[in-house]
Amino acid sequence: MKHKGYFICIEGLDKSGKTSQSILLVEALCRKGFDAVYTTEPSNGEIGRFIRKYVLHRKDRVSPIIEALLFAADRADHVENEIKPLLSEGKIIVSDRYVYSSLAYQGATGLSLDWIKEINKHVLQPDLSIYIDVSVETLMKRYGKEKSVMEQFETQKKVEKIYKNLVQEGKLIPVNGEQSIESAANEIFSIVLNYIII
Ligand SMILES: Nc1ncnc2c1ncn2[C@@H]1O[C@H](COP(=O)(O)OP(=O)(O)O)[C@@H](O)[C@H]1O
Ligand SMILES: [Mg+2]
Repeated sequence: MKHKGYFICIEGLDKSGKTSQSILLVEALCRKGFDAVYTTEPSNGEIGRFIRKYVLHRKDRVSPIIEALLFAADRADHVENEIKPLLSEGKIIVSDRYVYSSLAYQGATGLSLDWIKEINKHVLQPDLSIYIDVSVETLMKRYGKEKSVMEQFETQKKVEKIYKNLVQEGKLIPVNGEQSIESAANEIFSIVLNYIII
């Protein structure tokens, strides 16, 4: 029987290395002969494109409730129209951000985590969820002088706190993101291979 595929998500703070690591993971899996694909949230579907325009490409922030609902709607669309069809073809999907981003980012605004979980409860559970762990102090250097609204020290600290709790709860597997890009990629690849092969 053909395997149902695997669904992996990569989480972390802004500029922690999610996109670099997601792409490197897909490339490493493909080199090993697996059929792996990269995807991202916000998705490239219509709701995801709307989020980029309406939520992300602006100087201030929209209401946290609107943000949370839009991200949950995009996630439902992403799962139904992209992730599930690819999984049924037996592919390995690597998603650059997923539901834990909603918990961490919208949760950091003070919204109830239970409510965020509730509006996301129909989404698919990932097989593996990895957290790229980089301290906010290190990230502030990566951000440079022109920091976005999201890239403020206090905001990232609040987001980090929720991510760290999710690591403590065993929902996210931490990987040290302060090592070189290549070392972190090797570590992530071995975690994924161990899961897939064993
Ligand atoms: N382990 C690392 N060490 C140093 N710089 C890194 C590391 N990982 C990523 N970067 C750099 O940080 C920036 C953000 O990386 P990116 O993968 O786009 O992060 P994200 O998708 O989490 O925002 C890029 O310039 C990237 O080259
Ligand atoms: Mg990115």
